[in-house]
Amino acid sequence: MLDNTKARNVLKTYIDKYDFSNPRIKLKANHIFRVADAAKKIATELNLTKEEIDLAELIGLLHDIGRFEQLRVYDTFKDKESVNHAEMGIKVLKENNFIKQFCNDEKYYDIIFKAIYNHNRYKIEDGLDSETLLQAKIIRDADKIDILNLLVFENFETLYKKKEIIDEPITQNVLDSMLEGKQVERKYQKTSMDDWASNIGYIYDIYFKPSFKILKEKDYINKIIDRTKTPEMEKIREYVNKYIDRKIAE
Ligand SMILES: [Fe+2]
Repeated sequence: MLDNTKARNVLKTYIDKYDFSNPRIKLKANHIFRVADAAKKIATELNLTKEEIDLAELIGLLHDIGRFEQLRVYDTFKDKESVNHAEMGIKVLKENNFIKQFCNDEKYYDIIFKAIYNHNRYKIEDGLDSETLLQAKIIRDADKIDILNLLVFENFETLYKKKEIIDEPITQNVLDSMLEGKQVERKYQKTSMDDWASNIGYIYDIYFKPSFKILKEKDYINKIIDRTKTPEMEKIREYVNKYIDRKIAE
């Protein structure tokens, strides 16, 4: 039996040890709890068992636990310049069997670690059993939904260290990928607007219908694009909204 009320309290106590006056700590803490809620919602709408729903929520709570040590030790969230934060999280949870405080039952540990390990990879690794694969997909969807949520309200200064990005061009390859329903390859991204538009491409890697429903309900895509209204972004808006509607209707 999982006890997520206890898990939430253990997590809060853990996060409280970090410097909350640092806005980046606060940002990640809030992100984690929203992702846990989204994961729970997706699992519930997929009509999974109570046990699977609880596990999805718990993985949501734990998926970014490595962020705090990453920030404390390296002062950055950029994995490329520091550590893979998923692997850091697994290390934190394994140290002194910290995971036991979140979850008493060892039978879940393998799924939890594998779902965390896969949450930030470009693609899920091959060879996972069906239960682990399911949980890996749920956490990836929930995480992406909250990243899109962040883009609705986070200021450009924090994201790009610039007041505005709208005057920058979108590289043709980036636009082409977005209008072909393909995730944008990093090598094509040259400007901040490229990065901005590419983020919307996360939806092309979303698995579940309930996730698309959340995106539509919250209207994240339109709200993101409303912040940067250009003719190219309007083309992306049209394509992406149709893509979401199609996924919901499937
Ligand atoms: Fe993460």
